[in-house]
Amino acid sequence: DTPADLEPRPCVVTIMGHVDHGKTSLLDAIRHTNVTASEAGGITQHIGAYQVEHNGKKITFVDTPGHAAFTAMRARGAKVTDIAILVVAADDGVMPQTVEAINHARAAEVPIIVAINKIDKPEADPAKVKRELTEHNLVAEEWGGDTIFVEVSAKNRENLTELLEMILLVAEIGEYKANPNRPARGTVIEAELDKGRGPVATVLVQNGTLRVGNFIIAGVAYGKVRAMMDHAGRRVKKAGPSMPVEVLGFSEVPPAGELFFAVEDEKLGKQIIDERHNKKRELELKATAP
Ligand code: GTP
Ligand code: NA
Ligand code: MG
Repeated sequence: DTPADLEPRPCVVTIMGHVDHGKTSLLDAIRHTNVTASEAGGITQHIGAYQVEHNGKKITFVDTPGHAAFTAMRARGAKVTDIAILVVAADDGVMPQTVEAINHARAAEVPIIVAINKIDKPEADPAKVKRELTEHNLVAEEWGGDTIFVEVSAKNRENLTELLEMILLVAEIGEYKANPNRPARGTVIEAELDKGRGPVATVLVQNGTLRVGNFIIAGVAYGKVRAMMDHAGRRVKKAGPSMPVEVLGFSEVPPAGELFFAVEDEKLGKQIIDERHNKKRELELKATAP
């Protein structure tokens, strides 16, 4: 892509943090508070990624797919996130997985916004969290640092607008861009075998545009995109950069963190798949050889 091909795209934000500090609750609270998202209503299924609109600007959120999956993603070279939200429970403070999350974000070289969650709790101590994070070089602005801290309550939906505004502020500096006018590529966020629908994959399009009818490849999983749904379950015909969509049509369940790409020529796609299968077989033979 030449600079002239690039167009602004929404930022992709990953929520990270220690177990039970409220990552999923925070995502749910943002989704339900947000007007555009709540219009869809009646969302029951588990959602690993979705998009909201705030002040006319879109933000894509991705729930942490667990640290093991995150590590696997990084090993595969997937770089999905632009901004990391580090969730720290105000009543618990910095824990081992908080530190892991900081290390992940630093390795990915993305800015970190700290969301101190559960401030509704009587035993909440946000100052303690700030003190502890100072030791990891995350220093609040009022303490002379440059890390943005937002004190939130997912439970009471407190300060969520402020958090969204801080995300957009950081996103503005990033000036994220992509070329919507080329075949799609991106990352599989999560995937499963659905009894009725077959393999279902939530993918994040990172460059290009994915369309129904495209031939799609992720590892050795492939197929023709039969249907696509946005996070609210609405059918869509195409998905541009930074849009998460559910894809039907894969031959098998692709692993989370796998990179995917679309090809317009089905013949070429089948050729790539054949080569990948042969390579896989070769490696398996080598591994079992005496
Ligand atoms: P894992 O995905 O398992 O790592 O957990 P998580 O970080 O997604 O946390 P989750 O959203 O599952 O929340 C854990 C517990 O904390 C749940 O019982 C939530 O109801 C509770 N919780 C989350 N946010 C808040 C909050 O703002 N205030 C209070 N009081 N409780 C909260
Ligand atoms: Na939990
Ligand atoms: Mg969770």
